[in-house]
Amino acid sequence: MNTALVTGGLGFVGSYIARDLIEQKIVDKVVCLDNFANYVDVTNPEYQDYRKIRFKDITSDIIIERGDAKFYGVINNLIEKYRPKYIFHLASLPLAKIDNLNVQEAFESSVTATSNIIEICSSIKDYKLDRFIYTSSSMVYGNFEKEYVDEDSSCNPIEIYGTAKLCGEKATQGLCNFYKVPWTIVRPSAVFGPTDMNNRVSQIIIDKALNNETIDIFGKEEKLDFTYVKNLSLGFIKVATHENGLNQVFNITNGKAHSILEYVEEVKKYLPNINYQIHERDESRPVRGTLSNEKIIKKIDFKPPYTFEDGIKEYVEYKLNENKN
Ligand SMILES: NC(=O)c1ccc[n+]([C@@H]2O[C@H](COP(=O)([O-])OP(=O)(O)OC[C@H]3O[C@@H](n4cnc5c(N)ncnc54)[C@H](O)[C@@H]3O)[C@@H](O)[C@H]2O)c1
Repeated sequence: MNTALVTGGLGFVGSYIARDLIEQKIVDKVVCLDNFANYVDVTNPEYQDYRKIRFKDITSDIIIERGDAKFYGVINNLIEKYRPKYIFHLASLPLAKIDNLNVQEAFESSVTATSNIIEICSSIKDYKLDRFIYTSSSMVYGNFEKEYVDEDSSCNPIEIYGTAKLCGEKATQGLCNFYKVPWTIVRPSAVFGPTDMNNRVSQIIIDKALNNETIDIFGKEEKLDFTYVKNLSLGFIKVATHENGLNQVFNITNGKAHSILEYVEEVKKYLPNINYQIHERDESRPVRGTLSNEKIIKKIDFKPPYTFEDGIKEYVEYKLNENKN
């Protein structure tokens, strides 16, 4: 039986990757290692936990294993037990504003867990991994020096999350090259779509619009390369399974930044009563823009199938239908 291990597999992005792995028949089963963490205040009456429905219709193809990816024994047991063909490492504190207050936790998932996984992969007898895929972030670039960055642009993170992610990238490259474990690094940006529950700006805008609440926009010019989660997941699988993805770093993004105001305007097409207030930008966050996706288009022949507009339309429709039920 072919399996893939997705650490953080119960999460927003991990669950889409797990679904695509099954739907595209890349493996027979997906093992999701997750420590069932929450990153928002669960006592808030509006908090909605989507984890229950993330594997709707594919539960028999998914094996959930509870555990923390930072523990050597947990990873060792799982790899011994399932001998996965692919390991997608997504388990990590996923929000910059939380990482900046939890340095140790950020480094344990991005660096300790990453190093342990790679070391274990190299030490298990008669085991050969097809690909280790490390999930990084656009935050590794720090302040963008120009309108867009590509994979060769310099990485100078200015806060904890990006720093921990960049250390994880270095651990991936250094250890994988040393132990001869095949690797790929993915840098996503501002992912949005159905079942996100971490209160990112893309989710807050739609939730507030649905509740007729005023949206606070920090920075009129603030731009992000908003990326629809389905594009990201398909891209992950392409780079993991393509020979040209071997030992390479890829931005997997929409490939064109939009301002938060443009995101709001797009949502407004479906929810016209939306209203917002503009405030000063948050100076602790790096100034960002477009993450070029030319490399994945050229090397892997992957063009994200959903436009920015398609993604927002699907996401708003999902939220509207959910509210009807
Ligand atoms: N969503 C984005 O906009 C975005 C952008 C760039 C990078 N990323 C990265 O993508 C990955 C997935 O993010 P997401 O948006 O799906 O977040 P998420 O919170 O929905 O998923 C993360 C999952 O990992 C689990 N987890 C966290 N630490 C763990 C640990 N030590 N051991 C086991 N499980 C653990 C959590 O319980 C959660 O289910 C993260 O590494 C994040 O940093 C996300």
